[in-house]
Amino acid sequence: MPYSEGNAKNGAKLFKTRCAQCHTVEDGGANKVGPNLHGIFGRASGQVKGFSYTDANVNAGIKWSEDTLFDYLENPKKYIPGTKMAFAGFKKAKERNDVIAFLKEKC
Ligand code: HEC
Repeated sequence: MPYSEGNAKNGAKLFKTRCAQCHTVEDGGANKVGPNLHGIFGRASGQVKGFSYTDANVNAGIKWSEDTLFDYLENPKKYIPGTKMAFAGFKKAKERNDVIAFLKEKC
């Protein structure tokens, strides 16, 4: 299923409650439990300098886009078997669309 334009404002709330404990989005933001996500669109998986990824994440060979993020965030452990990202996923397409709309604004 492809991405369709979400609500960035709602996405900001979702990011704050579901992602921000592990990720920053601003340019030059710190790596936390997870890598800084700035510049994620168009980048290959596992490329943030100074972050210690699993081989699974690096070797996944994904190019991050609205559509790959849409599929990944439904069930990260299914999309990248072996990932250490401890996030169960957003089952609702709307939540994925909203958080991706937020990322598009901030990244
Ligand atoms: C409990 C911490 C945690 C939460 C919550 C979390 N992540 Fe992650 N995330 C990680 C870790 C750790 C990795 C690196 C995984 C690896 O190396 O296997 C990662 C990797 C990623 C990647 C791949 C980055 C790359 O450079 O390849 C994306 C995209 C991502 N997370 C987005 C999100 C989004 C969006 C949310 C909220 C819906 C989220 N994450 C929630 C810890 C988390």
